[in-house]
Amino acid sequence: MNFTRKHIISTKDFSRDELDFILNRAERLEPNARSGSRLLDGRIVATLFYEPSTRTRLSFDTAVKRMGGTTVGFDSASSSSTVKGETLADTIRIIESYADAIVLRHSKEGAARMASEISRVPVINAGDGAGHHPTQTLLDLYTMRKECKKPISDLNVAIVGDLKYGRTVHSLAYALSLYDAQLSFVSPEGLKMPASIINYMKRKGIDIVETSVLADALSKADVLYMTRIQKERFPDPAEYQKVAGSYSITMKGLEGVKDDLIIMHPLPRVDEIAPEVDASKHARYFQQSFYGVPVRMAVLSLLMGVEV
Ligand code: NCD
Repeated sequence: MNFTRKHIISTKDFSRDELDFILNRAERLEPNARSGSRLLDGRIVATLFYEPSTRTRLSFDTAVKRMGGTTVGFDSASSSSTVKGETLADTIRIIESYADAIVLRHSKEGAARMASEISRVPVINAGDGAGHHPTQTLLDLYTMRKECKKPISDLNVAIVGDLKYGRTVHSLAYALSLYDAQLSFVSPEGLKMPASIINYMKRKGIDIVETSVLADALSKADVLYMTRIQKERFPDPAEYQKVAGSYSITMKGLEGVKDDLIIMHPLPRVDEIAPEVDASKHARYFQQSFYGVPVRMAVLSLLMGVEV
């Protein structure tokens, strides 16, 4: 399988074999996520973040540096020439001549796709508005593979929270449909998974339960995937107030769950998971964020044609 110079824009562009191939490489590289390597010696990766980020930007940065490469970039639009009126297209035309790959986070859906049509170096979508976040999905799948006792295809996954604006869950839904996992989508009525994604999955024959009642999904779940209500995407703050705090996991709320349930969250959390849950045997969200490093090492080394 050859990923050299490919772009990573949406999980919808991948087959299950391709996803597994990337995850297998992540598995091989995981020891280097702490000890380091020289796989990207002399390579430069640009991280262009027009929206806030902690984990995604820093884990890409860490992944590059753990492979002996370097990064350039910015962490907000205000520190780039965007404030002077430069378009994203022009910025991409400049950066592609400086760097060997571009990691882009932008508030506009479709921004990464557009950048990939311009750039001669690989573009990785690190989040485009409420669109997609494919490398988050790769690390989510990796977490399920490493932390669950069953293969992904046998899992019952409850995805909870803001399914309308949450880009991580859009990407995850497409990917899990390739594995035939059983899915429950739990959200307030106004924040349901977009109809386009539901219809796509139904056409593929995927079994989906949609509900607004968390308890309906929780007892059957092997994976509880919590998400933040995406406050910044709401056109009207009053609408956000109506759904803020819709779901919150506490130790009491976990009574009756499967013994080996794992709880995941792309983070940051606001109030979806009480801090008391952090010490429970179910919590995996901090481990999950570590897995971003080997998974992004795998992606970057593949796009840059590095043999491992
Ligand atoms: C997510 C994002 O930016 O979409 N965070 C992340 O990348 N880990 C989720 C979120 O912001 O809620």
